[in-house]
Amino acid sequence: MEDWVWDHYNKSVPMSTYLVAFVVSDFESRQSDRNLSGPVFSVWARKDAIHQAEYARDIGPRILTFFESYFNVPFPLPKQDMIALPDFNAGAMENWGLITYRETAMLYDVNVSSDYNRQRIATVIAHELAHQWFGNLVTPSWWSDLWLNEGFASYVEYMGTDHVEPDAKILEQFVVDEIQNVFALDALDSSHPISVPVHHPDEINEIFDRISYGKGASIIRMMNHFLTEASFKAGLSNYLNKWKYNSTTQNNLWDSLTEQAWTDRTLDSHVTVGTIMDTWTLQKGFPVIQVDRNYPGKHANFTQTKFQLIKNATMAKEYESYRWWIPISYASKTFNAEFKRTKPEFWIKKEEKWNDHGIHVDKTDWLIINVQQTGYYRVNYDIRNWQLIIDQLSKNHSVIHNVNRAQLLDDALNLARASLLPYDVAFNVTQYLKNDDDFVPWESFLNAFSYISTMLLRSPSYGIFKKYMRSLLENQYNRVQFMQRDDDPLLKRFHRINIVQWACAVDSPDCVSQVKQLFGAWMNETEPDNANPVPMNMRGFVYCSAIKNGGETEWNFLWERYSLSNVASEKNTILRALACTRETWILNRYLLWAVTPGSGIRKQDGTSVISAVARGDIGSYLAFNFIRDKWTVIREHFPVGLFSIGGIVTSISNRLTTPFELNELLNFKTKYHNDLGAAARAVDQAIERVTANIQWHGDNYKAIDEWLQRATSAENEIPVTSSAG
Ligand SMILES: *[C@@H]1O[C@H](CO)[C@@H](O)[C@H](O)[C@H]1NC(C)=O
Ligand SMILES: *[C@@H]1O[C@H](CO)[C@@H](O)[C@H](O)[C@H]1NC(C)=O
Ligand SMILES: *[C@@H]1O[C@H](CO)[C@@H](O)[C@H](O)[C@H]1NC(C)=O
Ligand SMILES: *[C@@H]1O[C@H](CO)[C@@H](O)[C@H](O)[C@H]1NC(C)=O
Ligand SMILES: *[C@@H]1O[C@H](CO)[C@@H](O)[C@H](O)[C@H]1NC(C)=O
Ligand SMILES: *[C@@H]1O[C@H](CO)[C@@H](O)[C@H](O)[C@H]1NC(C)=O
Ligand SMILES: *[C@@H]1O[C@H](CO)[C@@H](O)[C@H](O)[C@H]1NC(C)=O
Ligand SMILES: *[C@@H]1O[C@H](CO)[C@@H](O)[C@H](O)[C@H]1NC(C)=O
Ligand SMILES: [Zn+2]
Repeated sequence: MEDWVWDHYNKSVPMSTYLVAFVVSDFESRQSDRNLSGPVFSVWARKDAIHQAEYARDIGPRILTFFESYFNVPFPLPKQDMIALPDFNAGAMENWGLITYRETAMLYDVNVSSDYNRQRIATVIAHELAHQWFGNLVTPSWWSDLWLNEGFASYVEYMGTDHVEPDAKILEQFVVDEIQNVFALDALDSSHPISVPVHHPDEINEIFDRISYGKGASIIRMMNHFLTEASFKAGLSNYLNKWKYNSTTQNNLWDSLTEQAWTDRTLDSHVTVGTIMDTWTLQKGFPVIQVDRNYPGKHANFTQTKFQLIKNATMAKEYESYRWWIPISYASKTFNAEFKRTKPEFWIKKEEKWNDHGIHVDKTDWLIINVQQTGYYRVNYDIRNWQLIIDQLSKNHSVIHNVNRAQLLDDALNLARASLLPYDVAFNVTQYLKNDDDFVPWESFLNAFSYISTMLLRSPSYGIFKKYMRSLLENQYNRVQFMQRDDDPLLKRFHRINIVQWACAVDSPDCVSQVKQLFGAWMNETEPDNANPVPMNMRGFVYCSAIKNGGETEWNFLWERYSLSNVASEKNTILRALACTRETWILNRYLLWAVTPGSGIRKQDGTSVISAVARGDIGSYLAFNFIRDKWTVIREHFPVGLFSIGGIVTSISNRLTTPFELNELLNFKTKYHNDLGAAARAVDQAIERVTANIQWHGDNYKAIDEWLQRATSAENEIPVTSSAG
């Protein structure tokens, strides 16, 4: 029998059925340099793209070896394959020994892709490889324990990445990308506990959300720090060895960790890990700790309350009974001044609404709680302590750990948003930033400030808002310069992207003209697909900016580059940028293409095109109209990916700020409430967010306008004392 192939398979190890995968393809493969004692490690891709798999081939086996040693359990299979698929609904899937990826999550072209693309590839590969132990070797008993799987992989992916890309200082990036990012969602009344019962397939899709991944990772990191690294690692290894080839619930992990922590005396013998962690997994949300210092007495009163982003008396009543076990670490000028010690000095227990505790801090010194933001909570202080912190930041911000600077900015601006701190104080915290060269605090600040930017966009204050931003950015813009240099460390490159992107967004003239020049130069190339003068890291916003300020010619030029590119990350960058146009008819056509087979936009990319349109100033209305008009078409086009439609709803709702728009959203829910599937929760969250946007305007607009007036008028220029980095 010619043309027939008969494959024979050995008996597999005991495993969950969701982890079985077969691939039939004409793809090519490359084997990694063989480590004789390790598994055979291969990468697979389309023939035309296999050269882009070099990076994955290089880091994959190194990360695998790292996890073998970290978990202290050898990888049990004789081989590990990783394959890049051109059309794939998820980002990646951890099938045991045959991991499947989107092309953007595995393929890296050194001449085209950005540093961000590369970092993302490292984190996704590390995430999937971590699942080979956590999820595959030991598997969850039921979907309700999915968060443990995902949270865990989302945490240790940072360790695996740190091992192969130490320059990324990715453990510092964690606080911004995970904790602070998920705080925004988990602060809503429509959030949910991380541990939820699951009865219906829609509920499975629904829990693949930021709460399972981001909050899961954050509370596991908190646990790592309160147990200490040695106990955490040993307990984990015991758990994996005890339960290998078996299924578990979260309690089995808590038990192994408790046992180890008691042996090591890192946890009090009348508390278990389960007792502590239940307060974080069974309740939604997170606490804010109000710290009121007694200055002469060297003690402080710590009060825990659930953080509520939006005032709602009914809900506040319900939240009165919410309590957590909260590990308290702190630093000051003379105590833990290096911000190294993250182990708790003491706990606020679940039974304690407040706890008045002695602290080693002089009355003239600032106090900062939650060292390196290892605890999953926000902190507020009495105004005097905020002022001491602000003084330190303006005198010499380097005295305070960069991760805690990020925390202070994110906490202050969000406490103000929740009416727990005057905006005056929060804005005063931001003024030192002109001297801060560090990526992490700026990233936190820009994330929090982009909310204010969106809220002010259509208001008379937008002009002075931009003026204030330019005053903060100017110094940094001059320091990093528009053009990258080959010897720039990775985080300086990331920092540059942020600074330059914002400088352009607030109309910094130099930035705007550089962008124009670069894109113009590209359009003049005779072979634009082989020569692109736009630096790889700048492409995302340079393209967007050119499309925004250009017309049909620019759009068509870029669309053609999209069609001809062989690099998935570049295609992805272009797809997002094409949504930046202000031409209504082009946007409407683009939305339609997103759900039209054969248009050139792959099914996997359809929802991200709609989301990208929804994030634009003009596009948000068009996208909202589009999903209302075409809901049935959308549902049919994305049958399994319905949970990513939640992402569209989220993008749209960020831009809606008026009661009229809220009403439209409520009508949408009424009309389709039986048909929302896994997007139901996202719609509720959107309604809550828009309600909050409306309330925010009423409460804060005036104070912010006044502060900005004061800060940007030359005669009242607030001096920021010089400082060193
Ligand atoms: C098949 O499995 C057996 C034991 O499970 C092992 O000894 C043998 O080497 C495996 N064969 C192959 C080809 O992997
Ligand atoms: C080869 O793999 C083994 C076990 O998987 C590991 O201990 C060793 O360090 C690896 N060697 C290299 C050079 O990566
Ligand atoms: C990147 O560009 C260099 C120089 O132009 C070339 O030698 C190399 O093959 C290119 N690499 C890839 C992966 O295309
Ligand atoms: C799996 O765990 C159960 C306890 O939940 C135990 O009874 C069983 O023997 C274990 N199976 C294996 C293969 O270890
Ligand atoms: C601590 O604060 C709580 C309320 O936030 C208050 O009820 C309590 O009396 C305070 N305790 C001390 C010792 O000041
Ligand atoms: C407050 O929360 C309740 C319960 O979730 C909700 O029904 C009500 O609409 C909310 N009130 C406001 C003003 O948002
Ligand atoms: C600022 O603080 C850092 C870290 O403590 C220190 O290394 C540096 O010398 C200080 N700079 C100035 C100007 O005091
Ligand atoms: C904020 O800074 C301004 C200028 O330094 C000062 O006048 C104001 O009192 C500060 N506000 C607070 C609440 O500290
Ligand atoms: Zn995962």
